[in-house]
This record gives sequence, C-alpha cells and structure tokens, in this order.
Amino acid sequence: LTKSDVVKIVLENRQSEPSEFGEAFAPANIALAKYWGKRDEELNLPRTSSLSVSLGEYGSYTKISQNGNGDSYTLNGQAVATDSTFARRLGLYLDLFRPAKDFFFRVETVNSIPTAAGLASSASGFAALAFALNDFFQWHLDKTAISILARLGSGSACRSVYNGFVEWQAGIEESGMDSFALPLPHTWPDLCLGLIEISSEEKPVSSRAGMKRTVETSVLYKSWPEKTEKDLERLKTAIEKKDFELLGQTAESNALAMHATMIAAWPPLLYWLPKSLETIHKIHRLRDDGLPVYFTMDAGANIKLLFEVKDMDDVRCQFENIKIIRPFDRPGEKV
Ligand code: DP6
Repeated sequence: LTKSDVVKIVLENRQSEPSEFGEAFAPANIALAKYWGKRDEELNLPRTSSLSVSLGEYGSYTKISQNGNGDSYTLNGQAVATDSTFARRLGLYLDLFRPAKDFFFRVETVNSIPTAAGLASSASGFAALAFALNDFFQWHLDKTAISILARLGSGSACRSVYNGFVEWQAGIEESGMDSFALPLPHTWPDLCLGLIEISSEEKPVSSRAGMKRTVETSVLYKSWPEKTEKDLERLKTAIEKKDFELLGQTAESNALAMHATMIAAWPPLLYWLPKSLETIHKIHRLRDDGLPVYFTMDAGANIKLLFEVKDMDDVRCQFENIKIIRPFDRPGEKV
C-alpha cells in the first residue's frame, strides 16, 4: 500500500472543502521506550510498540491556508528555502492532500520548543500539520485518524496527537489502520524532564536512515523487539504505581540498548560526542551519590534527564543551561 491509499481509507468519502484557514498546536514528545526500526518504510509502520511523554506547551503551532502560485512555507517567521530537505519533505506530504494538482498551500509553523534544547520537531510538526489540515478541510476526523495521518509524515508524530503518556500500538495490519497512538490514563505531576543540549549541529545521519541501516546490518537488532516489549510493560507498571526508580531505570536501559544496536550497525552509528559521554558519567556519579536522576537519548548527541520535582534544585545546579520541563503542569504554569 502507498501513503495515498491509506489517506483514501482514512478520509473515506469525505470532501476536502477548504475554509479560510486551519490551525492547530501539537506537543513534542520524548520516547521512554523507543520506536527504532520499521516493518514498512512507506507507511512508517514500526516493528514494536513504543511509549512516550508529551511536552505540554512545548511543540509546534501550524496555520495552513490556500496559496496562489506554488507552496510557501515559513518556520518561526522565516521563509523556508524551496530546495531544502524540510520543504521537500513537507511538499511530498502535502501532495497527499491537494484537492487538485494546481492547489497550493501556505504553511506557517512556529516552534515553541526551546531551540537550544536540541529537540527534534518533526514529531510535533507533522502532528500539528495533520490537525491543521483536518481543521482547514473540515474533515471532522477523530484522533485515531489524525494519529494515522501524522504517522505518514513521521512515525513518532503519531504520538504527538495526545498530551501526557502515550502508547503507539505497533499493530499488525498491512494497511497500518491498527497502528496509531492512544493516551495512557495516568498523570505524574512530579515528573520532570531536563533537556541538555550537547550539540546544536544537525545530526550526521537522520533517524529515518539510521533505523533502516540498523535493521539491515546490526547483529544486535534481533534482540531489540523483545527488549522493547519488556520495557514497555515495565514502564506501564512504573507509571501506574508511580515507581520513579523503575521508570528511570527502564527508560535509560531502553535508550542504551537502542544505541547498542546502532553502534553494532555498519557503517557504525555513533551519535555520542565526548560531552555526551561525560554527561552520562556525571549522571551515574550523581546517582551513586544518592540523587535519583536518569536519562534518555534519541538518535543524536543530546541528553534528556528524568527526575522528580523534589530534586529539581539539586539537578538544576549540577547542569549548566539545563531546560526543565514539567510535562504534567497545567498550561501557563512556568517552572
Ligand atoms: C530515536 O519518527 O523521526 O526518536 O518515522 O522515519 O520519520 P521516521 O522516524 P522518526 O524516528 C524517531 C526515532 C527516535 C525514537 C522515538 O521517538 O521513538
């Protein structure tokens, strides 16, 4: 199946009636049990389920309207060059939704994710875009349908459809109609995330290319599905019981196992920089000294800390330039 087949299934017989504009916000998310490896590259169908936490007010706001002659995109108020990777990826995604060949879009996106945090914005970006398209064309789709549409842009985007803890169920169907995100019914008001930027440079290999290479060449990849399934269950238990140690240990171990599969790929994928390793050692030292702080990492050099609000001051004074986010804070409440 192609993306366009799936769009047809999702939209059923809905007409795409453009309104003046459509707009939406979607949060960024950080996976605690990672999505790493696809069973279908066209549809971004994963080999395993994954679990993330959304970042509340930190994410992407997108406004979409019709544009006269060719697409036009802005990011944080700046025009996006049409020959950039970003514009090409967006254009291909929008091709799925043009009511006519000569229908063009104007897309304005503003990211509220602190730029210094080194967080990917494709997840919140595609989720906000899917919501904005739904608003613009007045499809009245439910969140399951939006999650599927967001996944066609970027796998992890399907989780950015909800706030709080979110599980992306891998599903088994070829069409991927059973592969979407669902929210978990638990909050954790004391949970804190700390974003530590190690490098602001673009990563050498994208997640997309990295996971493909890992699946194709890494001898360690065969143990990944089993590891992630176990971690997912452990995380659910931790969340249900508010067992922070179990949450932290499981998330850190899952991220390290993912990096192990990457390092064993060929050519090797080693996203860590000296500063990443230095920070990991520091986290382990702090833990040995009694401070319950854990970390997770994605396909890049940056580090995301996990800790509880009671330890916020201690954590803050250990890490210069840390950006602290409380995912379960009420909107507008600043740390
Ligand atoms: C390491 O969702 O960016 O962040 O589906 O190819 O767009 P595509 O990949 P993407 O991969 C994210 C990988 C990860 C783990 C995660 O977010 O679960």
